[in-house]
Amino acid sequence: MTEKDFLPKAYDAMPEEGKATWKAPSNIALIKYWGKHKGQIPANPSISFTLDACATTTSVHYEKKGPKKTDFSFDLFFEGKPKEDFKPKIQTFFERIEPYVPFLKGYDLVIETSNSFPHSSGIASSASGMAALSLCLMEIEKQLDPEMTREHFLRKASFLARLGSGSACRSIEGDLITWGEHSGIPESSNLYGMKYPFEVHPIFKNYHDTILLVHKGQKQVSSTVGHNLMNGHPFANERFKQAHGNMERLKGILADGNLEAFMALVESEALTLHAMMMTSTPYFILMRPGTLEIINKIWEFRKETKTPICFTLDAGANVHVLYPESVKEKAIQFIQDELVGHCENGHYLCDRIGKGAIKL
Ligand code: DP6
Repeated sequence: MTEKDFLPKAYDAMPEEGKATWKAPSNIALIKYWGKHKGQIPANPSISFTLDACATTTSVHYEKKGPKKTDFSFDLFFEGKPKEDFKPKIQTFFERIEPYVPFLKGYDLVIETSNSFPHSSGIASSASGMAALSLCLMEIEKQLDPEMTREHFLRKASFLARLGSGSACRSIEGDLITWGEHSGIPESSNLYGMKYPFEVHPIFKNYHDTILLVHKGQKQVSSTVGHNLMNGHPFANERFKQAHGNMERLKGILADGNLEAFMALVESEALTLHAMMMTSTPYFILMRPGTLEIINKIWEFRKETKTPICFTLDAGANVHVLYPESVKEKAIQFIQDELVGHCENGHYLCDRIGKGAIKL
């Protein structure tokens, strides 16, 4: 598919008003997207677990507007209060997606959004937020084009979400989503995320992700800046090649349920992501002392007890602790006894692999 396939049909009639509400989850990448080309095209393929508890709920009320207003017209409320500082990001998003959702300029919109996770938890809400908003916009388009298939609806929602924030395209469906062209994944695309199409061993079916909130403040460097620093990065090409290789290896691991190999690959991906940050110009470090303490304790615990528990990192100091359902009690006990002390105010969130966004 190409971008053209996402241009809409001519609409006959536009509804006067209505409201769409969707809840979309966050996701955690196993193979990381880090580096992109113009138009939100990823420099390498990535794959993520869709999460369950960490989610954004967004509703969009739309009402036909007078012919005089020519620009986008929207009000934005975050957790019930007007949120002016989110507006430029939404404005840029609307400008990027306008050719694909031209009806947008025909409506006054009221966007209300809230997160299931605490405000300023240091958890990025851009993936779940852009996914939920894109699904609401698709809901409006579905009113205009009732024949639209479910497949097209979800695919275009992912396509739009990508234009808001790359990783958001992996927050539409569950439970394992891949994004970016890869020779070993038929029909994989740089334009949208898709369900991982191969067999997955049952050990991964109810995988847990306990998110340790090491640092809840604003990150020093945004993901967008970090991605751009991969342009001209001395190790970029090797990194992109490695991601392709890791995707091929992960296929085997997901099929046969080899947790040793899974943990090694996932941890290596996380540390490579941060190594790219540390070796870019300018260089930067998003991990905090607590991040390293937690990583070392996970390694020690794994060695001593042979419990299959590992970590991954997003572009920040927080640690995602991953483990299968079968060791849940042991893992939670260890997290509470040993790791929570390194979290800001002892805060952590218990999540697990999830099924994707839902319409409310
Ligand atoms: C480290 O999707 O936040 O979480 O496309 O600029 O919005 P933009 O970046 P974003 O980058 C996420 C990077 C990551 C890895 C990943 O989720 O694959």
